Amino acid sequence: MSMRTLAVISRKGGAGKTTLSTSLAVSAWRAGLKAILVDLDPQRSAALWGRTRATPAPAVVSTTAGKLFPVWSAAENAGCDLMLLDTPAGGEDEALQAVRLADLCLLVCRPNVFDVDALQQSLGLVQRQGKPHLVVLNQAPPRRLGQESEVVGRAIADLQAQGARLAETGLRHRAAFPAAAAGGISVEEIDPDRPAAREVAGVWAQVWKLLQASRTAPAPRRPAPPRFKPREVGMPLGA
Ligand SMILES: Nc1ncnc2c1ncn2[C@@H]1O[C@H](COP(=O)(O)OP(=O)(O)O)[C@@H](O)[C@H]1O
Ligand SMILES: [Mg+2]
Repeated sequence: MSMRTLAVISRKGGAGKTTLSTSLAVSAWRAGLKAILVDLDPQRSAALWGRTRATPAPAVVSTTAGKLFPVWSAAENAGCDLMLLDTPAGGEDEALQAVRLADLCLLVCRPNVFDVDALQQSLGLVQRQGKPHLVVLNQAPPRRLGQESEVVGRAIADLQAQGARLAETGLRHRAAFPAAAAGGISVEEIDPDRPAAREVAGVWAQVWKLLQASRTAPAPRRPAPPRFKPREVGMPLGA
C-alpha cells in the first residue's frame, strides 16, 4: 500500500494540532506502521516532543513548506506507511502545502464560538483543494450528570451547519494530554485503558479507516527501472 498522508490543521493556536499529531503518530507506530511526523510549524513543538521522547519511533522531522514535497517523496520511497503533517496556526503556505499532499485533513476545533467560526476558513481551504476532512472536537468539557454541556451541543450544531464532518470520537479536556506531551509520549503510553487513551484510539481508528479507503494525493513518479540494451542506447561501455 502506498503511503498515506494526514494533514492536521487549525487556524487557531492552542486548539490541539500538536497534541493530536503526536498522539496519532504514536497510535500508528503502536499499530506496527512505519509513521513519520513532519513538523511544519516554525515553533517546532512536535520536534521538541520528538527530542524529549526516549524511543526513536515514530520518526519526527522538521521542514518548511518549500521543502515539504522532497521530504514527502523520500518518505514514500523509503516505504513509510503514514506521514502526519503538524501545521502552524498562522502560516498560509504551510497549511496549503500540507492540504495539497494530504489524503485526509484532520481539522482540530475547540467547542467555542471563535474556534468554530475560524473553522470555516480551514474548511474552505480543504474544500477548494478537493480534499476529504474530519473535524475533531478537542478540549471538550466533561459531561455533567451524564449531560453534554451546552457549548458542546452548540459547537456540534454550528459545525454541522457549516457542512463539517464530525469525527465519531472527540477529546475532552484532560490533564493526561499535557502530562504526556511533557514526557515525549502519548496518553496511550501512560495507560491505554484510561479515558484520554480511549479517545485517541477512537480518533485513530476512524482516521486510519478513512485513510486506507482514500488516496487523493498525487502519485509520485516512480518510473520502472530502465532495462538498458547497451547497444541500442549507445552506452559507452568501453572499447
Ligand atoms: N484535550 C486536551 N486536554 C487538555 N489539554 C490539552 C488538550 N489538548 C491540548 N491540550 C494542551 O493545550 C495546549 C495547546 O495544545 P497544542 O496541541 O500545542 O495546540 P496547537 O498545536 O494547535 O497549537 C498544550 O499545552 C496541550 O498540552
Ligand atoms: Mg502546535
